[in-house]
Amino acid sequence: MHFYNEPLLLYMKKIIVAIDGFSSCGKSTMAKELAHETGYIYVDTGAMYRAVSLFCIRNGWMTDSQINEKQIEKHISSMNLEFKTNNQGENEIYLNGENVENQIRSLEVANGASRVSTLGFVRLELVHQQQIMGQHKGIVMDGRDIGTVVFPEAELKIFLTASPEIRAQRRMDEMIAKGEVVNYNDVLTNVKERDDRDQNRAESPLRKAKDAIIIDNSSLTPQQQQEILRTLFAEKTLD
Ligand code: DC
Repeated sequence: MHFYNEPLLLYMKKIIVAIDGFSSCGKSTMAKELAHETGYIYVDTGAMYRAVSLFCIRNGWMTDSQINEKQIEKHISSMNLEFKTNNQGENEIYLNGENVENQIRSLEVANGASRVSTLGFVRLELVHQQQIMGQHKGIVMDGRDIGTVVFPEAELKIFLTASPEIRAQRRMDEMIAKGEVVNYNDVLTNVKERDDRDQNRAESPLRKAKDAIIIDNSSLTPQQQQEILRTLFAEKTLD
């Protein structure tokens, strides 16, 4: 269902919506839905870090015990990342021409993404690509540093959060739905480890931008959450 009708959209000013927050908070669901309702472009920057992780794992530059920063730095600019829209109108990520949307969702790739995202040269390259994607505005981007580093001037900044236990349960439900066998405690440990790395890395740690609006969705339904976002979006685009 579209909340905004076409004529109204024509008079709205185009803005950048930055949605940051912890892993498994529902940032991408929220961002995708807003983009769908408003006709904005949706960019999942986590998918970009995950694709870098997959690229490194496949090439043997990252194992459980070591990471070959020299090789990654040498090859990062030869890595081509693109988003293409599938038949259902959803964006999918392509790594050097290959659709890797499913491969990047594993726990192994997620862990690797959290490690490669600590490397300054990886962030520099991806932030640059993200800024190009948003240069004409009309974009909803989610990640960890969108409101602080990628688009500090974004008109609407959301900082989404929920308790680690709720996020672990949501992630586990998603994985089970995909047929994966998972243990709740493993997923919870993983969520906490990633929170710790996201918040404590030297390069662009996860922080709430000063002007971001906090939404804790631990006890919100998806509908309530979306209603809050719609109201905030309308305030920013109609003023
Ligand atoms: O949102 P996600 O779980 O798909 O993100 C994967 C990893 O990438 C996560 O550990 C945090 C990192 N990331 C980041 O550092 N900066 C972003 N803008 C997006 C994701």
